[in-house]
Amino acid sequence: MPILNWIGKERVVTYHSKVPFRTLSLTYGYTAEHRREEGLSSESGNMIVFGDNLLSLKALLPRLEGQVKCIYNDPPYNTGEKWTYADDCNDPRTRDWINKVVGKQGEDLSRHDKWLCMMYPRLVLMRRMLRPDGVIFISCDDNEQAALRLMMNEIFGEDCFVANVIWQKSYSPRNDSKGIPTTTDHIVIYSKKPNWNPFKLERTEGMNARYGNPDNDKDYWRPDNAYAPNAITHQGMVYAIQHPFTGEMLYPATALCWRYEQSEMLNIMNGWCEYELKELDDADKRASVCGVSVNDVRQGVLAIVLKESLEVSRQKAQEVYDRGQWPKYYFSKNGYGGIAKKTYLGEVGDRVVSNFWAHSEVDSTDGAKKELKEIFEGSIPFDTPKPTRLIDRILDIAVEPGDIIMDCFAGSGTTAHSVLKANAADGGDRKFILLEQDEEIVKTTQERVQKAISGYNYVGTKTERLYEKKLTAQTLKRVSEHYDAAKKVYEEAKSSGKYTDVHQPTVKDTYMIVEADTNYDGHRDGLGGAFDMMELSEPLFIPGTRLLNEEVGEQELRRYIFYTETHQPLTQTRDEQYPYWLADYNGVGYYFYYEPYEPTTLTAQNVGDILKGPMEGGLVAYADVCELSDEQLTQMGITFRQIPRDIKRI
Ligand SMILES: C[S@@+](CC[C@H](N)C(=O)[O-])C[C@H]1O[C@@H](n2cnc3c(N)ncnc32)[C@H](O)[C@@H]1O
Repeated sequence: MPILNWIGKERVVTYHSKVPFRTLSLTYGYTAEHRREEGLSSESGNMIVFGDNLLSLKALLPRLEGQVKCIYNDPPYNTGEKWTYADDCNDPRTRDWINKVVGKQGEDLSRHDKWLCMMYPRLVLMRRMLRPDGVIFISCDDNEQAALRLMMNEIFGEDCFVANVIWQKSYSPRNDSKGIPTTTDHIVIYSKKPNWNPFKLERTEGMNARYGNPDNDKDYWRPDNAYAPNAITHQGMVYAIQHPFTGEMLYPATALCWRYEQSEMLNIMNGWCEYELKELDDADKRASVCGVSVNDVRQGVLAIVLKESLEVSRQKAQEVYDRGQWPKYYFSKNGYGGIAKKTYLGEVGDRVVSNFWAHSEVDSTDGAKKELKEIFEGSIPFDTPKPTRLIDRILDIAVEPGDIIMDCFAGSGTTAHSVLKANAADGGDRKFILLEQDEEIVKTTQERVQKAISGYNYVGTKTERLYEKKLTAQTLKRVSEHYDAAKKVYEEAKSSGKYTDVHQPTVKDTYMIVEADTNYDGHRDGLGGAFDMMELSEPLFIPGTRLLNEEVGEQELRRYIFYTETHQPLTQTRDEQYPYWLADYNGVGYYFYYEPYEPTTLTAQNVGDILKGPMEGGLVAYADVCELSDEQLTQMGITFRQIPRDIKRI
């Protein structure tokens, strides 16, 4: 596998383990019922974390390693605007880059190096966050797609590449664009383990609308092709079927055959009237359908023909036609037309997702801005939002109710909005974890999520059609008359002052139309839900020392200790009777005998009060001092770890 090299790579591949472990502190909890409550968790499991995502990811490891089902990332695209490289990897070659805006293609020769250096350590931690069946989606454009793919192959493995989705982000390239204008973005997808499969998509209403039930059958159905391909290899399925209404001999179209074995076709046709198998001496016709010579066509293939006279057969078939619930092969035009097959809605199943996501299905960047405009009372406080429908698609194919979804470059909070929408729609309990570092942007993230939860008022636009003329071969002859009529309607509407905007006459879906907008005050109901606002807090160790930072708070320390021992999240709360008990894992019990600002000592006298009974796999106990001898420890099955010396760094 080709390996990508870049300036600074040597340091960044291990940088995630060098950055200090910081803890997280709760700012406020937000719930639909109580709104914002300072210092009180919503207990929802949803979080917005303010801070650099490398530090936040590391801080979240003890809670979330191996727990996240889906990560969506929308990092800076490295377009040469705004984005700065900010990691200090203690590398003389990259030190000069820090906090300077990364330049455009052609202006900054190390722009790709910087972007790769920023992404690499974060992606390493993100991979650790994923469950074994987890999957990551990364938005980017042609600035970094090629480099990203090579780097992802290295971090996730080439066999974990799922797809490079092409998202049609806009549908009308600017006319003054230079070169070939870009109307698509990439969404690069990798899974934690190979052979990941997306869920199928629900069928759209448009697809279902093609199904009807004119014969009052047990399910909706649509007319389908009566034939299947490969006549030449299925010559036993090429023969005549006699039409029950007209008596005509029907053969499959050239190179095609009937869809089912002859016995089944006979069964189906017997649903109309009585049929039998008969030799027709039609080798030449069958040979021409199969595309072989008469000598080569299979001999002795019988036709399915009417058993009784045409009159009797037609009468019986008419009765079936009038009764309804026609057999699986039917005849169009009140029975006198061609043969077709019924395909039932229940047989076709859901849709497979492809790697092209059209704006008509998942919306566009314009749509995303309109969403923000509605939420923020007409203003757009964030430049590069993604539309919720795009994230809805990701949730549809990758996430089940109850799963955790993470967005490490949160921006305006689209991912949280999408998750709340999905939960409101099906009562699910998907959880979102959003990371955002920008002080101003994170205000937008919070405000949007709060509004999505609690509802908001907005000014909407209603479009009214004032003129409409269908353009047919007839009406086109008098198109200038219709245009003049449309123009008149347009002028009158414009001067009426009734509308906020009147659109010039135009042609849409074969209609000449004039439309006008009016504003109205709307209200969007809240989707419900809740989240905790968190921020990066104290480092766990006092910088430059091995000493524990007592400011960190006990719960964070307990969580950290249990995680470093087991790589599992600590879900149990403090036990009243044994306050130093953390939890057990794989038969081993873990204790953290710790008091802030006060050294703790395990002695022969207190050990029975502090640690409860032996465990199959033994006990691991942390304390500042241990007065028990090695022999006593072995006897009691205790492994002693000294605070802070034995606390692992991650
Ligand atoms: C392209 S925007 C994401 C837009 C988002 N998908 C939406 O729909 O609004 C990228 C966001 O990532 C944030 N960001 C960039 N570097 C970051 C970092 N190191 N840690 C956390 N957030 C970061 C930026 O501040 C910006 O808000």
